Amino acid sequence: MALNNTMKQSSFTIKTFGCQMNVRDSEIMAQLLAEKGYVESMEMEDADVVILNTCSIRAKAEQKAMSMLGALRKAKRRRPGMKICVAGCVAQQEGQELCQRMDHVDLVIGTQNLYELAGLLEGIDGTSKVAISMSDSYEIPAFIPAMPKLISQGELQDTSPARSFRKFLTIMQGCNNYCTYCVVPYTRGREISRKVNDIIEEAHVLVEAGVQEITLLGQNVNSYGRTNPVTAEGNEYSFAQLLRDVAAIEGLKRLRFTTSNPKDLSLDLMRCFSEIEILCPQFHLPVQSGSNIVLSKMNRKYTRELYLQKVAELRSFRPDIALSTDVIVGFPGETDADFEQTMEILEEVRFHSSFSFKYSDRPGTRSADFDEKVDEQVKSERLSRFQKRQDQICLEQNSLYVGKILPVMIEKVTEDGLVARTVTNHIVHVKEKITCSPGDIVNVTIHHAGQHSLNGRIDSTNQYQGYSHD
Ligand code: SAH
Ligand code: SF4
Ligand code: F3S
Repeated sequence: MALNNTMKQSSFTIKTFGCQMNVRDSEIMAQLLAEKGYVESMEMEDADVVILNTCSIRAKAEQKAMSMLGALRKAKRRRPGMKICVAGCVAQQEGQELCQRMDHVDLVIGTQNLYELAGLLEGIDGTSKVAISMSDSYEIPAFIPAMPKLISQGELQDTSPARSFRKFLTIMQGCNNYCTYCVVPYTRGREISRKVNDIIEEAHVLVEAGVQEITLLGQNVNSYGRTNPVTAEGNEYSFAQLLRDVAAIEGLKRLRFTTSNPKDLSLDLMRCFSEIEILCPQFHLPVQSGSNIVLSKMNRKYTRELYLQKVAELRSFRPDIALSTDVIVGFPGETDADFEQTMEILEEVRFHSSFSFKYSDRPGTRSADFDEKVDEQVKSERLSRFQKRQDQICLEQNSLYVGKILPVMIEKVTEDGLVARTVTNHIVHVKEKITCSPGDIVNVTIHHAGQHSLNGRIDSTNQYQGYSHD
């Protein structure tokens, strides 16, 4: 449908909460709107269309989005023409109820309805609309990304140049694992893999537009291709194959992926780390708990022994691999002894970094009904003990890079130097001015390590020494 000139001037803003998948979904929504003639507004209060792309993983994440939504009530009173749309995992879970609680919301759009956004917005007539479907036969539509330079990227408000040379590429939607604490299988539906050709085409478009680094996204990438046919011929095709095929695209400099459930981590995938040159030696492998009793209650389907075995195998393929993890403390029934086992895992693996959370009851999940909920105070104490020790380990691990020459990709050129990233995903600050652009790769000598970043100097010899921690 042709749009009149007034529609073409409509502006939108998207606020993103939650994981990288939501970041990518926000980009897709932005592109869909840009294709219809909408322009992006940096100021939420001034936009004609405000989209909150929400996350429901923990109560806190949901509250953040809800309080922003509450604040928008005032803005809408001032500008009644403003259209307010709630997308993402909270939208999917709450649907109609959200409109009842928040009558200033114009559209609630589900995670499988993302691509209908532009049409749904056109149909808004002053009454709240709800577009939520959740089908087991959902297929991720073929979708060609806009050239990264045409619309701003990332969290949209994030105009850093880094966004145009590092991109996320979603390869799967949903999850079939049903960990007992997790809302994702309910908010994103069953696991579905995108077609190989669509993924490769998207990667090509990105690389041709100047993207240097791609991160493949899925809740459990290692089961890519297992739940539905992904090739035109319907033959078997694995995540490891996908990595090889994407890595073969000429011009791509770095390849990463996230996330992977340890139970499905195959030797074939591990082998990729010794075979694919551009695959960054960095692996996010969420352990959640070090106690077998807790892991079993979480329905994670692996033991601490299996986890440790996978870590050892991974390191045998790529000794310099930087491991990160997710941990939940205070899962229902977690005793002091269980928690100590999580602390032990920390000592045994020595993660380069970790994300740790207090367990939070989520509606519809099985663990919400479990007995023996852990006291908030105990959860806080455990979290702080975990984080304190992890911080020390981060520093110890980072110190091993001091004196090494590492290739880094420039993210930002600042007033007094550069911000860059190593293959292991460490941020490096360089206080030197050289002629370079974001996306360029230069060698730096690391001279100082902090808990969360490194400091380096441009290496004039240009002799990269490899990454090993010897
Ligand atoms: N697919 C990934 C995890 C995605 S959710 C995986 O399987 O590992 C990101 C992280 O949020 C999880 O790893 C977990 O540590 C945390 N998380 C999920 N549900 C949670 C809950 N109910 N309470 C606290 N943390 C939770
Ligand atoms: Fe959630 Fe578990 Fe699926 Fe990860 S694997 S998204 S934690 S259900
Ligand atoms: Fe949050 Fe949904 Fe991602 S719950 S973590 S936005 S899949």
